[in-house]
Amino acid sequence: MASIYDRFMAETERACLADWRAELLSAASGAVLDLGAGTGANVPHMPKAVTRLVLCEPDPHMRRRLAARAGEAEVADASAEQLPFDDESFDFVCCMLVLCTVSDPERALAEVHRVMKPGGKLLFIEHVAARQRPRRFLLQRWCEPVWKHLAENCHLTRDSEEAIEKAGFEFEVLKRESMRKALPIIRTSVRGIARRATSDA
Ligand SMILES: C[S@@+](CC[C@H](N)C(=O)[O-])C[C@H]1O[C@@H](n2cnc3c(N)ncnc32)[C@H](O)[C@@H]1O
Repeated sequence: MASIYDRFMAETERACLADWRAELLSAASGAVLDLGAGTGANVPHMPKAVTRLVLCEPDPHMRRRLAARAGEAEVADASAEQLPFDDESFDFVCCMLVLCTVSDPERALAEVHRVMKPGGKLLFIEHVAARQRPRRFLLQRWCEPVWKHLAENCHLTRDSEEAIEKAGFEFEVLKRESMRKALPIIRTSVRGIARRATSDA
C-alpha cells in the first residue's frame, strides 16, 4: 500500500484533496497531531503558526516515506487507539482518511478527545458510507470485504460524521462533497472542523 499510495491518490489530490487539506489546515496552530499521517501529504500544508508537529503512523513502510517528508516534525510509531501522549497535549488533531482504516474508530476518537486540549479542534476529511445514494451504498457493501483485504483494512461503509459527534465533538464546519477523481466506492466524503464540546472541557 505504502509503495503505491501517492500514485493511487495523485489525481484526487490534484482534483480536490490538496485544496481541502490546505483550507482545513490553514486553521491549525500550536501543538498539532497528525493521526495516521501516511506518506505525509498534510506536511506541506502546515502553517507557520504550528509550533509542534507530531506525525503518528503505525505502518513501518508508510513511516519510512513519512520520515523523508517530516522535516523538523516528530514521527511517532503509534496507533490511534492507544496514543502515547499525555491528556490535553494538542491544540489540533488532523484525521484525514484514517477513520475508515483504524480497527476501532470509537476508541480512536476517545483517544483524540483525551489528548486534545479543552477547546481544541479536530480537522478531518473522511470517505464515508453513501447512505443517500442507494446504488453506490450497495456497491460499497458488496465491495467492502475484498476492498478491506486489498487496502489495509479500509472500510467503505463507516459513518464517521456520526462517530465524531458521538465522541463529544461539535461541528464548526461540515461539508459533504464528492471526492473528485476518486474511485466511486470512496467518493462520498465529509470534511470539516469539529471542536471538543464545551460540556467536556
Ligand atoms: C488512507 S491512509 C491516509 C494517510 C494520510 N492521512 C493522508 O491523508 O494521505 C490511512 C493511514 O492510516 C494509517 N493507520 C492504519 N491504522 C491505523 C491506526 N490504528 N492508527 C493510526 N493510523 C492508522 C495507515 O497506516 C495509513 O497510513
